[in-house]
Amino acid sequence: MSSTPSSRPTSVTRLSLSHITAQNETNLLGTVHGGVIMTLVDSVAGVVAARHSGGPAVTASMDEMTFLVPVRVGDVVHFSGQVNWTGRSSMEVGVRITADRWDSVGPEVHVASAYLVFVAVDSEGKPREVPQVVPETDEDRRRLREAEIRRSHRLARRAAIVASREEEAREPESAAEDAGGDVR
Ligand SMILES: CC(C)(COP(=O)(O)OP(=O)(O)OC[C@H]1O[C@@H](n2cnc3c(N)ncnc32)[C@H](O)[C@@H]1OP(=O)(O)O)[C@@H](O)C(=O)NCCC(=O)NCCS
Repeated sequence: MSSTPSSRPTSVTRLSLSHITAQNETNLLGTVHGGVIMTLVDSVAGVVAARHSGGPAVTASMDEMTFLVPVRVGDVVHFSGQVNWTGRSSMEVGVRITADRWDSVGPEVHVASAYLVFVAVDSEGKPREVPQVVPETDEDRRRLREAEIRRSHRLARRAAIVASREEEAREPESAAEDAGGDVR
């Protein structure tokens, strides 16, 4: 079995998948269901994360995803994924989704971009270290910088929610203390 290196260039695990959308993938409006696209995004990102980390990796989170244009039945949808950023055991994988219209020749349409965090896990499901990603182009370096911004926002949001819940859990206690204070 080959050992996992301490770093990997971005291009080594970049991956593209193309999918021709079908009739059974539509929503009530007759365009392609967003969930179909999201499933393929998660699959592509999962393969990128597993290849980069040299083993299993689980989806920890998926950022808000905005669909810019609808995908129609028969369109050819392309998913292009790469590791944007690496931490100790986590990786941000970015997936760019574009489409070629089935009935016309023109420039590819940008459908959406998605950012997912994967955590590499060992056989017991515990986080394990991942190779550091080495950006190779200006675009890779831009993606790395922007991934760091997203990472700091995710951590800040999580910390704020935890603090808010702790505050809420303390409220009955402090209310009781206040009430006690009034009696004394
Ligand atoms: C993801 C998981 C392995 C993290 O385990 P954990 O014990 O909370 O791990 P830690 O707190 O030590 O964090 C490990 C890393 O994950 C990152 N992480 C954990 N939860 C995260 C989240 N919600 N969003 C982004 N990153 C997250 C941490 O920042 C840390 O990164 P680093 O090692 O690069 O610094 C665990 O929460 C899990 O198994 N979740 C379920 C995943 C799954 O089943 N996905 C498929 C859904 S069906």
